[in-house]
Amino acid sequence: MMPNVRIELTGTPGNKPDAKKLGFGQIFTDHMFLMDYTAGQGWHDPRIVPYAPLTLDPASMVFHYGQAVFEGMKAYRREDGQVQLFLPGRNAERLRRSLERMSMPLLDNDVFIEAVKALVRVDEEWIPGEEGTSLYIRPFVIATEASFGVRPSSRYLFAIVLSPVGAYFEEGLKPVDIQVEAHDVRAVRGGTGSIKAAANYAGSLKAQAAARESGCSQVLWLDALERKYVEEVGSMNVFFRIGEQVYTPALNGSILEGVTRGAVLELLEDWDVPCTARQLPIDELIQAASDGTLTEAFGTGTAAVISPIGGIRWNGQLYKINGGQVGELSGKFYDTITGIQRGIVRDVYGWTDRV
Ligand code: COI
Repeated sequence: MMPNVRIELTGTPGNKPDAKKLGFGQIFTDHMFLMDYTAGQGWHDPRIVPYAPLTLDPASMVFHYGQAVFEGMKAYRREDGQVQLFLPGRNAERLRRSLERMSMPLLDNDVFIEAVKALVRVDEEWIPGEEGTSLYIRPFVIATEASFGVRPSSRYLFAIVLSPVGAYFEEGLKPVDIQVEAHDVRAVRGGTGSIKAAANYAGSLKAQAAARESGCSQVLWLDALERKYVEEVGSMNVFFRIGEQVYTPALNGSILEGVTRGAVLELLEDWDVPCTARQLPIDELIQAASDGTLTEAFGTGTAAVISPIGGIRWNGQLYKINGGQVGELSGKFYDTITGIQRGIVRDVYGWTDRV
């Protein structure tokens, strides 16, 4: 159980944005949740306070050795006006794994979910209701002890901020081309690729810029050892449909276990679509794209939900998939998952949690 959360409301609430013009992560709500950790005392002083810059010592360990982890989740305004989260327990579990890997103090799952719900309740008016919109929730933990010692910090800050969002990609559900990255890797087994370490994302930016220069929206990452097997696309998990079978890379210690990935796997099982999680050689996918048996490919993530892939650029050549059109399954996943999230498709899976 979390100790009582002190709540200090803002005296100057911000104007709510036009829900039709929301991008991703540009606008922040009136309040934030903060809680401190001190070695010997544990987590303490949970509070919801007006959204404001943080004051940190420049020697804070997060700036130097990168002890920073985060989560991404969303609150949805249902059609009946109620508010709900999507599988928050899986974010809580994953945050624990991230904290554990980065030698940071664990947070109780219930405390994490209570903190998210408490903040969402305070800023509930910021949750847009239009189709394709939601309130993105960004919990994160950073090391705050002022020290240059290379060791775990003795102080941390757990914070949650909220942002009303529309589509993650400008393209929305329009399929995008992706470029196979042959040089940089996102993660290596035994490293931090399977958790949400902030540094994973910094390391991906160079390849992302190169993909953009080649006219692609995202990077298709290969494994670090052999540069042979597909791992993720951009900051998402990835699925391919070849013939009547769906494939996704098996979790191998360098791939993030996405919450949306899990939901897609459950839907595939429920819909009796054969799906295999295994190593996926890039050569096999390019061959399938060339002979037309690769009929669908898409990324999955909390921010984008489903992001259809229209073509794969590899060795200077673009291999189109499904004529660059949204595939049948991609559309069905998008409609089902966002329908459940918005309360217009019945949640028979128990994925949603009212705030
Ligand atoms: C998400 O899909 O929520 C992510 O965390 C990916 C990205 C926005 C960093």
